[in-house]
Amino acid sequence: MNPASVVGIPSTIPKGAPPVRHYLQFSDLSASEYQYLLRRAAFIKAKFKTFTRHQPLVDRTLAMIFEKASTRTRVSFEAGMYQLGGSVVHLTTGDSQLGRAEPIEDSARVISRMADLVMIRTFEQTKIERFAEFSRVPVINGLTNEFHPCQILADIFTYIEHRGPIAGKTVAWIGDGNNMANTWLQAATLLNFKVNISTPQGYEINEKIASSPYGISADSYQTYSSPQAACKAADLVTTDVWTSMGFEAENEVRKQAFAAWRVSTDMMAVAKPQALFMHCLPAHRSEEVDADVIDGPQSVVWDEAENRMHVQKALMEYLLLGQLD
Ligand code: CP
Ligand code: NVA
Repeated sequence: MNPASVVGIPSTIPKGAPPVRHYLQFSDLSASEYQYLLRRAAFIKAKFKTFTRHQPLVDRTLAMIFEKASTRTRVSFEAGMYQLGGSVVHLTTGDSQLGRAEPIEDSARVISRMADLVMIRTFEQTKIERFAEFSRVPVINGLTNEFHPCQILADIFTYIEHRGPIAGKTVAWIGDGNNMANTWLQAATLLNFKVNISTPQGYEINEKIASSPYGISADSYQTYSSPQAACKAADLVTTDVWTSMGFEAENEVRKQAFAAWRVSTDMMAVAKPQALFMHCLPAHRSEEVDADVIDGPQSVVWDEAENRMHVQKALMEYLLLGQLD
């Protein structure tokens, strides 16, 4: 082929594929797209479990940019992309020009000319939004200070696997009003379930985020000062670390403030008998959760971690190829 004939081709996305879509927040996809993705994730998981090859992304590359630590996000995206037939490039702030002040816009322009998908774990949501604005290819949020949509997608998939539809159910969020909590509220608004939320004073959900511009309806959640009251009759009890990445300087103060927000067997006892326990991990036993709970019969945390890979495979396939069935 004459090299001149490929000048100006905008991206490596195949003809007929949908326009570039990013996944920066849970509210970036519609309820019907989630219906498809959850169904597709079950199909992709079943293939994986039966050693059946599923490789729609041969020759495609995922660039993963980590500005914070990770175990699950790294392994699930990396293993998942290889299983789909593609490959990955792993970048961190320390070993790329990102850490040497190359503008994010320039990094986005360059990386998205060589990779077909970009996953970013970073600090402020505005950073991933700026990257997406200048990216030719889909950008996926692998956690920001504000949101963690891939985790909530996995959590909802896990709930459905164990208990059926989540619509109409009640999720109790116990602990920090953080990125996970914000994303639960977006999901509740979109998928029609409720969140009972209990945080210590001073660690409430950010009111600016818990509002309609962020896809969160006030009807989707109720706040409780008592964590026990929030757990009452819940279908799912979930929590997270008391100190998220980037807030380590507050660790000691937070340990005092959060002492009554450790998920205990007493809290699980007031939830529905069939209630599940989830934690995005990594967990600190005897801080945000008692060992009896996370290692107990209601906990589904290992399925939850594994399901990150299956739902993200469905997500990557969808962002590049659109709906396939
Ligand atoms: N839950 C989660 O995102 O884990 P990692 O920080 O290990 O990626
Ligand atoms: N809220 C935690 C989640 C870790 C997966 C954090 O942001 O560090």
